[in-house]
Amino acid sequence: MSQRKILVTSALPYANGPLHMGHLVEYIQTDIWVRFQKLFGNKCTYVCADDAHGTAISLHAEKQGISPEESVALINKERVRDFGDFHVEFDNYHSTHSDENRKLSQAIYLALKEKGHIASRTIVQAYDPEKQMFLADRYIKGTCPKCGADDQYGDNCEKCGATYSPADLKNARSAISGATPVEKDSEHFFFKLSDFDNFLKEWTRSGTIQDEIANKLAEWLDAGLQDWDISRDAPYFGFEIPGEPGKYFYVWLDAPIGYMASFENLCQRRDDLDFDEYWKKGSDCEVHHFIGKDIVNFHCLFWPAMLSGANYRTPTKVSVHGYLTVNGEKMSKSRGTFITARTYLDHLHPEYLRYYYAAKLSSRIDDLDLNTEDFIQRVNSDLVGKVVNIASRCAGFIKKRFNGQLSSHNIAEDLTTAFQKAGEKIADLYEEREFSKAMREIMALADQANAWIDEVKPWVVAKEEGKDQELHDICSAGINLFRLLMVYLKPVLPAMAEKAEAFLNIAPLNWQDSQTLLLDHEINKFKPLMTRVEVDKVNAMIEASKEVLAQMSTAKPENQTENSWLAQEPVADEIEFGDFAKVDLRIARIANAELVEGAAKLLRLTLDLGGETRNVFAGIKSAYSPEALIGKHTVMVANLKPRKMKFGMSEGMVLAAGPGGKDLWILEPHEGAEPGMRVM
Ligand code: MSP
Ligand code: ZN
Repeated sequence: MSQRKILVTSALPYANGPLHMGHLVEYIQTDIWVRFQKLFGNKCTYVCADDAHGTAISLHAEKQGISPEESVALINKERVRDFGDFHVEFDNYHSTHSDENRKLSQAIYLALKEKGHIASRTIVQAYDPEKQMFLADRYIKGTCPKCGADDQYGDNCEKCGATYSPADLKNARSAISGATPVEKDSEHFFFKLSDFDNFLKEWTRSGTIQDEIANKLAEWLDAGLQDWDISRDAPYFGFEIPGEPGKYFYVWLDAPIGYMASFENLCQRRDDLDFDEYWKKGSDCEVHHFIGKDIVNFHCLFWPAMLSGANYRTPTKVSVHGYLTVNGEKMSKSRGTFITARTYLDHLHPEYLRYYYAAKLSSRIDDLDLNTEDFIQRVNSDLVGKVVNIASRCAGFIKKRFNGQLSSHNIAEDLTTAFQKAGEKIADLYEEREFSKAMREIMALADQANAWIDEVKPWVVAKEEGKDQELHDICSAGINLFRLLMVYLKPVLPAMAEKAEAFLNIAPLNWQDSQTLLLDHEINKFKPLMTRVEVDKVNAMIEASKEVLAQMSTAKPENQTENSWLAQEPVADEIEFGDFAKVDLRIARIANAELVEGAAKLLRLTLDLGGETRNVFAGIKSAYSPEALIGKHTVMVANLKPRKMKFGMSEGMVLAAGPGGKDLWILEPHEGAEPGMRVM
């Protein structure tokens, strides 16, 4: 087997607030994958950086009365400590506000420009005459033109769900200075994404991204790609565009280039790494990006197109994960479920969380839930009750009765063989990011080991005359089984593995050590490797979270994603009849259907439920024109909690079947079904 050369990244966290439990899903997922690769013997390099640029970050700094550079530096310090304490081990952690990034961003832009992929045109935008800066929609507030609600953002109303352009807002004012915005012209630069249409259609289907994401992207690709505005006017915290004084790169242009810049910065310190070897076109090294589902378009459309246009290699894989919920809901400050990395660390052991996330993560993009009761139960039962238990049941006898020396032969041969064989499957599961399945395999092995110990009862054997050898062999086998489990768990629990190595008196374990045994070997005194999660500490963490977060900025500052299509619920294995009975399915008449401006796949439907009407957004534009729908009867979920989408409030869901794209059929009832009727 030849050694793979793999460069891995996690998304670069914005430098305008502390890390929280949601971020950690990503950094822990990536770190586990990287640790597995290293343990397995591949040459794997993990880089990341602060995403330092953009308006949100300079405003955050301004609020604190310091420069953006100072603010970024402060946040960086906290962050590096948080990552370290969670055992997230980067080979390099850099910043997008760096020389390497400036040079690479300018070079890539110039290469794109030279090939004709950059266009420029003048656009009209809201401008804050007091602050003397252009205002993005979310920095304009005013009164909703439709329902009159005050204090609404520039593009949609949170009260009534209306969408509009900032020019329609009544009493519009700048959210930054309070001044009334004026309209002003400005020249902007655009990346001509449509030049890469064919390339992207192929790239997104070449095994680089999960099918469920590729399917969604296909809808955008089919609808035709728009030029991407990559420039911002001064004042802007970022890099000036070469040859265009007063114009800056939009933060999302230089952010992914930050992956390359962080690697470049590392290469300067490491003789064994060569930038070009990894990034040149046709490179046989691998590049893997781990990201959340909210930033897919940046990584799976803009980024590969930029790389390809500038004649670099494109990513081997973009692995997308879902969003974290806590106790079934979005993280919330008032419920104390907006938990920062530091608040967690103040109360709980980092490896509890690493294990819990591992036990929940798959290669899919389903959201995952941190349920505090399940967390306590899972960690205590699996790690303490199963894994550590094996060692603690056997270690005492070895120390007391056999001077710490393990037996020279193995009596649990079948079991050991099963453990060793499982290594290959577990390795595949790590490779495929099926961590929850890997954890299930490992815990099933731990169950077998405990069942075997229950059967051979060392504590009974210990009291019997002349059974020293048997006792010695049983306990030695138990310790060996424990050691094999620690190999398999090491990517997830690096600190516990280190303690286990000290206890076993061995060099750091690697993956291939799972194929050997410790025979005739002296071990050290056993110390508890992990203690139980205490309910009180979890509660204290929740309480503390309610307090700390009052002034914290949590907004996602720079995303232009239409990401509601990805916010799908996890698929449950089986549900109770009672769960099903809660779903209120009704016949609805499609009273109206219209296109939604700016939405690639959504239609706005007005559904008549026999008197009551509902506004519902449905992702069926690829299959139906609005006219074809009007007048049809369909089936809808009538009691779905209303959801705020980018384009307004959606008050239910229309049921459709099919693989997607053009092959999508709304469910039509048999004639005679009247609007409002319940579907059984
Ligand atoms: N700065 C951009 C990424 C630039 S990459 C060239 C950004 N930063 S972020 O701080 O908002 O998010 C960093 C990563 O954390 C993203 O991949 C994002 O999806 C992920 N998460 C942020 N909140 C999350 C949850 N609540 N749950 C899971 N992942 C989350 O986006
Ligand atoms: Zn309104």
